[in-house]
Amino acid sequence: MAGQGQIEFDTSVVGDLNDAGVEGDATSLRDSTTSLASSIYEYRTIHGRAYQSSNTTEYWAPKDAKHLEGNDIAHHYTLMLMNNKLYAPPLKDPKKILDVGTGTGIWAIDMADEFPSAEVIGTDISAVQPSWVPPNCSFQIDDAQLDWTFGEGVFDFVHMRNLFGGISDWPTLYRQAFETLKPGGWIQSVEIDLETRSENPRVANDPDHVFKTWCRLFWAAGDKTGRTFKIARDGQMQKHIEEAGFVDAHHQMWKVPIGGWARDPLLKRVGQYNGLYIDLSLDGFAVFPLAQVLGWTLDEVEALVAKMRKQLEDPKSLPYYNL
Ligand SMILES: C[S@@+](CC[C@H](N)C(=O)[O-])C[C@H]1O[C@@H](n2cnc3c(N)ncnc32)[C@H](O)[C@@H]1O
Repeated sequence: MAGQGQIEFDTSVVGDLNDAGVEGDATSLRDSTTSLASSIYEYRTIHGRAYQSSNTTEYWAPKDAKHLEGNDIAHHYTLMLMNNKLYAPPLKDPKKILDVGTGTGIWAIDMADEFPSAEVIGTDISAVQPSWVPPNCSFQIDDAQLDWTFGEGVFDFVHMRNLFGGISDWPTLYRQAFETLKPGGWIQSVEIDLETRSENPRVANDPDHVFKTWCRLFWAAGDKTGRTFKIARDGQMQKHIEEAGFVDAHHQMWKVPIGGWARDPLLKRVGQYNGLYIDLSLDGFAVFPLAQVLGWTLDEVEALVAKMRKQLEDPKSLPYYNL
């Protein structure tokens, strides 16, 4: 362990916190907002606000423009982590691709562009997808928790990403994906573990730190709704995927910095985008799980969000989560 000022951290992981660099302050949550935001908006513009309610799955995250914008920024940093690839499996001329819980449809649209001869279908309980899509991409309002009606052996590739907190029965979700795939087909399932961790041992080892409080509350909310926020922990995804019948399963985990503190240039950039994603999403994350599910008042929720935001922005916090 080495340190910078009063903070202990591993200098091979954490960059020079005084280095403003071309992107601005290395540590603030939303550093270089202006330059980042402008490049993000060039990268993808989001269509207007939309709200949907589902009779079958009460989903916890909002559907307003601010939140959807955050989701598309998360898409962008996820691609950066994955060597700018939309998928990891060795796909060979896929003909039919399914994106479960597609959100704004950004991944499905990009896949349709990449595979013009494939049909790409995105499903969601919310109609928040744009209408300007490639001709080989379409969206369906569909609850992935109900019985799938696509039929067996239909798709070459099933993709699902960031459905944590929205699914009560992951084994059944993976089983239905298995059944709808052709023999030799692939699934890719990507989920965030929402525990905010820290490269600073003092933060990481403090059981009362707001990072710990925050995730304990989300876990409690997930226990109460029966839709877990813990799916990306303890090898559960791989376990359920293999139990569904899949073979040749590969697991990969990324540490995703929150803010631009990482020494590695790619992770630094990822962290900057992630900081913007979290900045846009933090209050939206909290309202439903804490107020609706756990019964907090809005004042209490706002106070916790403010405390969390302050710690995320503190240069000593060196926060990240696992993807
Ligand atoms: C965090 S967003 C992720 C969107 C997209 N997968 C992405 O990574 O950009 C989660 C999405 O899952 C959808 N969702 C949640 N539960 C669902 C369910 N049971 N069936 C279908 N979609 C669901 C939500 O409406 C939301 O659009």
